[in-house]
Amino acid sequence: MKLYNQGATPVSVTSPVSFAGLIEKIEILRSTLRWASKLDRPEIEKLLKQATTLRDEVMGLSHKERFVQAAAAEPEAAAPPPEIERMPRERRQALMERSFIFEGTFGDNPRLLEALEIAEKAAPTELPVLIDGESGTGKELMAKVIHANGARTDKPFISVNCGAIPDSLLESELFGHKKGAFTGASNDRRGKFESAHSGTIFLDEIGELPLTGQVKLLRVLEAHEIQRVGSDEIISVDARIVAATNKDLRRMSQAGTFREDLFYRLSVIHVSLPALRERRDEIPLLVSYFSDEAAGMLRRAPVRLTPRLRDFLLHYDYPGNIRELRNLLYRLSCLAGDTADLPHLPQDIRPKPAALAVVGSGTSGAEIAMATSLSEAKRAASDEAERAFLERGLQEVGGTVAELARRFDMNRSHLQMLLKKHGIHSKDFRASRQAEAGKG
Ligand SMILES: Nc1ncnc2c1ncn2[C@@H]1O[C@H](COP(=O)(O)OP(=O)(O)OP(=O)(O)O)[C@@H](O)[C@H]1O
Ligand SMILES: [Mg+2]
Repeated sequence: MKLYNQGATPVSVTSPVSFAGLIEKIEILRSTLRWASKLDRPEIEKLLKQATTLRDEVMGLSHKERFVQAAAAEPEAAAPPPEIERMPRERRQALMERSFIFEGTFGDNPRLLEALEIAEKAAPTELPVLIDGESGTGKELMAKVIHANGARTDKPFISVNCGAIPDSLLESELFGHKKGAFTGASNDRRGKFESAHSGTIFLDEIGELPLTGQVKLLRVLEAHEIQRVGSDEIISVDARIVAATNKDLRRMSQAGTFREDLFYRLSVIHVSLPALRERRDEIPLLVSYFSDEAAGMLRRAPVRLTPRLRDFLLHYDYPGNIRELRNLLYRLSCLAGDTADLPHLPQDIRPKPAALAVVGSGTSGAEIAMATSLSEAKRAASDEAERAFLERGLQEVGGTVAELARRFDMNRSHLQMLLKKHGIHSKDFRASRQAEAGKG
């Protein structure tokens, strides 16, 4: 937006802050009117006063807008390429040169960089930020990025999970309570807003906040004041608000389950985080980072991945996004020896045996090629042959271990031991047999 590129200007040009602030005020005014069932004279006077102030601000803005448009018409104003068209590496580099704090956020995906660039601009302001994205996409991390890049960085960052607080405790949790305010209130207690004074309050899962809580929150956002439950004392709080949700708040506010005025209050700046499956280009980097991190925590060497497991990790859909990828790498690092393979994956996401056999046959050569000594290569080849033999056998006998032992004249407990070693579950083969029978 032109308003961002002010440069050195002889007159004071409006900032996006005041522009966004103006829209916000208009929306709040509209919502107040929409939600009011009746208004008495003093309230009408108050609203009229707000409308007059707004009119003056709009007049001021239109003057500044004309100035900005004139400045934009000059050739050099159009010269720098828009952020969006620059190469991802350059964009990250540029953020680094501006001493942006990433707080460990990886990735050069254009949509992630866009989110970081918005965070960079929003961080030094006092404007509320709403972050949305699926579970595990890094919403809390982004809230920390905003906090770390603002002027409140050495002040508290208080995280509140609005979905995890029972309705009856919500008010006390957010605003605190006075001793004796309710059964169990044995001491005075300050709430999260007071704890976040001069810092940032992160309202996670804001879409889960019940309507009564929404009304109370709106009041704090407007007045910057709270009252502890059971107390008459009014306490001023100055907390920067960052909220997060995995819900569509706009739709919720249209459906009446989230207050529209609160939505507009919270979403002055809106940051959307893409799902991991929409930024697959980042998976290889995240895999190496988390396997290193897991190795450090588990005091072991970073786990190696068989080509077929790597292939799976690159193509899996990750409904739990980055958190799921991170947990997977920790699991693999904990359960596997030197090298992790598909059987080390949790059973519910592991590819089915038929798919596994196909992938396995194509990649065993690569696994052997990865070996760093002849004996390791021999062991890899022998393991692969053993696995393929067991899988094919189980496929043929429909997953009955006793039948497999009989057919190949093997000791049943030895066979069980081999299946365990390879993480093969005979019942998977029963399931695939039944599925085939069902189809036929
Ligand atoms: N871009 C990223 N680079 C590195 N690590 C990341 C990135 N995004 C998220 N993570 C890591 O992934 C995990 C999940 O992130 P976070 O808790 O911020 O997600 P969330 O969106 O708040 O999840 P939820 O909706 O489940 O609360 C954390 O360990 C976080 O550090
Ligand atoms: Mg979270």
